[in-house]
Amino acid sequence: MKLWGGRFIKEENSLVNQFNASISFDQRFYRQDIHGSIAHVTMLAKQGILTDSEKQQIVEGLEGILTDVENGTLEIDPAAEDIHSFVEAVLTQRIGDVGKKLHTGRSRNDQVALDMKLYIRDEISQLDSLLKNLLHALLTIIESNLETYMPGFTHLQKAQPVTVSHHFGAYFEMFLRDRSRLSDIRKRMNTCPLGAGALAGTTYPLDREYTASLLGFDCATRNSMDSVSDRDYLIELCSAMATVMMHLSRFCEEMILWNSNEYQFVELDDAYSTGSSIMPQKKNPDIAELVRGKTGRVYGALVSILTTMKGIPLAYNKDMQEDKELVFDAIDTTKGCIALFTGMLETMKFNKEIMEKSAANGFTNATDAADYLVNHGIPFRDAHGIVGRLVLYCLDRGIALDDMSLEEYKAISPVFEEDIYDAISLKTCVEKRTVLGAPGPSAMAKVVVEYKKLLEE
Ligand code: ARG
Repeated sequence: MKLWGGRFIKEENSLVNQFNASISFDQRFYRQDIHGSIAHVTMLAKQGILTDSEKQQIVEGLEGILTDVENGTLEIDPAAEDIHSFVEAVLTQRIGDVGKKLHTGRSRNDQVALDMKLYIRDEISQLDSLLKNLLHALLTIIESNLETYMPGFTHLQKAQPVTVSHHFGAYFEMFLRDRSRLSDIRKRMNTCPLGAGALAGTTYPLDREYTASLLGFDCATRNSMDSVSDRDYLIELCSAMATVMMHLSRFCEEMILWNSNEYQFVELDDAYSTGSSIMPQKKNPDIAELVRGKTGRVYGALVSILTTMKGIPLAYNKDMQEDKELVFDAIDTTKGCIALFTGMLETMKFNKEIMEKSAANGFTNATDAADYLVNHGIPFRDAHGIVGRLVLYCLDRGIALDDMSLEEYKAISPVFEEDIYDAISLKTCVEKRTVLGAPGPSAMAKVVVEYKKLLEE
C-alpha cells in the first residue's frame, strides 16, 4: 500500500515502482526507523498532540514490530516502497486506525534524514572500535620491536636505519588521526532533523529539543530546509573512510613488498594468504592486494556522492536517495578491510635478521659518517663530500663503510680515528637518534607511553 495514493488515479508503471523503491537497501535501518518513531510519538503525547493511550498503543505496536523483525517472525516485504511505508503499514494492520496517527507532524524527508543519522552514528562507533583494535595490534608490534633494526627508505632507496617500532609508529599516527576525524564528524552531525517536516517545519506545537534528547542528539537542527537536504556528514564520512583506505592501502603495498621473495622482511601467515591454481610454489598476499584494490571503491563513493549533491536545489530531492547504497557499501568495505588487515598484521612474522642485515648494507650509515666528521670540526658540506668519496671507494670494491681499514679511511681524510667504527655501527646510528619523534629506542619508548595512554581514553 502506498503512503500517497489519494491524489493519483492511475497505478504507477511497474518499472517505475522498482526504480523508485528503496526498500532493498533502506531496510538496513529498520531499527533506527522504529526508534525514531517511538521518540516522535512520545514527544507528540507529551505535547498533547496524541493522547497517552494512543501513544501507548503505537509504541507497543512499534516495539512488537521491532521484536518480530529481529526474531525473524516478521519478514520485511520486498514489495514495499521503503522501510518507512513498511513499518507504518504493518503498524496500522496490527493496531488499526490509531497507527495512522504515527506520521502526524512528520514527513519522510525528515524521517529519512533522522534514520540515516542514527544509522551512521552507530556505524561511526563501529568503525572507531575497529580502528582501535588495529591500533592495539600495532602497539603490540611497536612495543616488542624497539630494537629491531631495518632500513628506512626514501624514494624506495635505502636511506637511514630505523626500527620496526618506528616504521609501524608512523602508521599508528595515521590511524590515530583517522579516529579523530571520525570523532569530529560525529560531533558535527549530532543534531536532530526530526520536526523539519517536508521542508518547512510544521504547525503542530512539537518539542523538537525533547525528541532530540530522547534520541541522544546534542540539539535539534536550526533550519528545516537544511535539515532535510544536508548530506555533508556523509561526504565527510566518505572522505574519512577514503583516508582510512588510503592508509591501509599504503600499508598493504609495503607488506606486499616486504613479503616478496626479494625483501623477505616479513612472512604473511598461511591463514591470510592464498595459493595458485597452476604454480604449486606460490603463496600470494591476496588479502593485502584486495584491501589495496578496494580502496578505489571507497574513493568512488566519495566522488559519487559529491557529484550527486552538486546540482540539487533546496530542499529534498529524490536524488538524495542515492546516498544510501554508496555510503553503505563504503562502510561495509572499510569495516571489512580494517578487520581483515588487523588479523593479517597480528599473525605476520618478522624476519628480524634479514631486516637487520638489509639495514647494515646500502650505506644507511653514510649520514652518520658525515656527522662524525662534523663532530670533529669539519663543516657539514665538506663532510658530505668526503663521505661521498668513501662511498664511491666502497662501491668500487663491493664493501661497506664498516669494512674499510683505518688506513683506507685516513687516506681519504686524516680526521678519522679508531672510534669511527663505533660511530657508524648500526646500533649507534639508531640509538643516537634520541630527538623527539626519532627511532632511537629511548625516544620511541617515551612515545609508546603516550600511545598507551591514548588507547586507554
Ligand atoms: N527513500 C527516500 C530516500 O531515501 C525517503 C524519503 C522519501 N521522500 C520523498 N519525498 N519521496 O531519500
